[in-house]
Amino acid sequence: MPKDALTITDQRTNQTLEFPVELGTVRATELRKFKTSPDDFGLMTYDPAFMNTVDCKSSITFIDGDKGILRYRGYDIDDLAENCTFLQVAYLLLFGELPTPEQEKQWRFDITHHTMLPESTKHFMNGFRHDAHPMGVLVSTVAALSTVYPEAKHVHDPANRQLQTIRLIAKMPTIAAYSYRHRMGFPYIYPDNDLSYAENFMQMLWRMVEPKFAVSPVLARALDILFILHADHEQNCSSTTMRVVGSAEADPYLSVASAASALSGPLHGGANEEVLRMLDEIGSLANIPAYIDRVKKGEFKLMGFGHRVYKNYDPRARIIKEVADQVFEVTGHNQKIEIALELERIALKDDYFVSRKLYPNVDFYSGIIYEAMGFQPEMFTVLFAIPRTAGWLAQWRELMDDPERKIARPRQVYTGIVHRKVGRKTEVKHEARDVVGVKG
Ligand code: MLT
Repeated sequence: MPKDALTITDQRTNQTLEFPVELGTVRATELRKFKTSPDDFGLMTYDPAFMNTVDCKSSITFIDGDKGILRYRGYDIDDLAENCTFLQVAYLLLFGELPTPEQEKQWRFDITHHTMLPESTKHFMNGFRHDAHPMGVLVSTVAALSTVYPEAKHVHDPANRQLQTIRLIAKMPTIAAYSYRHRMGFPYIYPDNDLSYAENFMQMLWRMVEPKFAVSPVLARALDILFILHADHEQNCSSTTMRVVGSAEADPYLSVASAASALSGPLHGGANEEVLRMLDEIGSLANIPAYIDRVKKGEFKLMGFGHRVYKNYDPRARIIKEVADQVFEVTGHNQKIEIALELERIALKDDYFVSRKLYPNVDFYSGIIYEAMGFQPEMFTVLFAIPRTAGWLAQWRELMDDPERKIARPRQVYTGIVHRKVGRKTEVKHEARDVVGVKG
């Protein structure tokens, strides 16, 4: 009879043990029962970059990478992108259900009435160099808010968690817009509570002297959809960072700032900026075959292709492609889409990419749309961080309610010099030793 159990024999000692298999996993700590001697620390798992390690149970986001499926709380991403607003999806991620009309009314009111930044924070932002990268400004300013709201450190208080959750989601667009206007040398524009989340962000970015900013409904809807697509993606690097920093019970401003720092990396949220740089470098359709050849020779990667989890087409990239057409109707065509579409067409039928399951991911097309909408490449990752804040906070809240929560503290295998004394020449021996120094 099949049984949810795993039997392992340690051939070092001929010890055989059976471990329960729960939800397709075995508990790594169980393996420590395999010891080669009484003072042996016990067997550990070795998994750099957590290629196959589960660190939490989560009911927020589901991904089937082989089938190219992404669901938030059970809803398909394309269903949400078609039928919901970003604020409705943020509510779903945080509270588990789409809001009722009354709940939505209160949620919109709460978010809209927390968009303002304290004047002292504006002075803080004025301290940045004129050409400071918006991600550096965003990360530092979010961290600085932890000094404006010191009560945020009471992370065990649900009402406090709720208030800081609202403040963070409400203020991210304001900080992002201010970081852009600082770069442009433009005066800051205060939030407009009459507008929707995306519309207000656009008016804070681009309003000049006109009393009311005329928002393009097509562009505002496109931005709202892009926000939905980037809102959460289960245990990616930045959400894992949010959980790791949160596990030390740091306040949510410092945890979100840490998560945003991870997102700023070119291997994570910074990839959309890299894609645009790549498309600029390719420059024309004629240059594509030569470029693909160099990718195949391993000279460089095809940015925006491939994903740790998706071994199929990233569903977000598919939706972004559809949104691109609507955006270009308003903004005019962005030539780079031709190069991107041709790159995709070639890559999807080329065995080099197919055999490696390299498909366009969410970053491949997002940069082209952002640029067509008038965003500078330096703002692309900020546009990722704004909606992802809802995902980071949902992951953090789930962690804070998790009965298995402990401070994150992985183990290591020490491979350095075993022992030596200052001033005494010792024969340097490098031996693999486990945490308690017993020879492996
Ligand atoms: C994301 O949305 O965070 C990226 O696709 C990266 C990931 O999921 O690992």
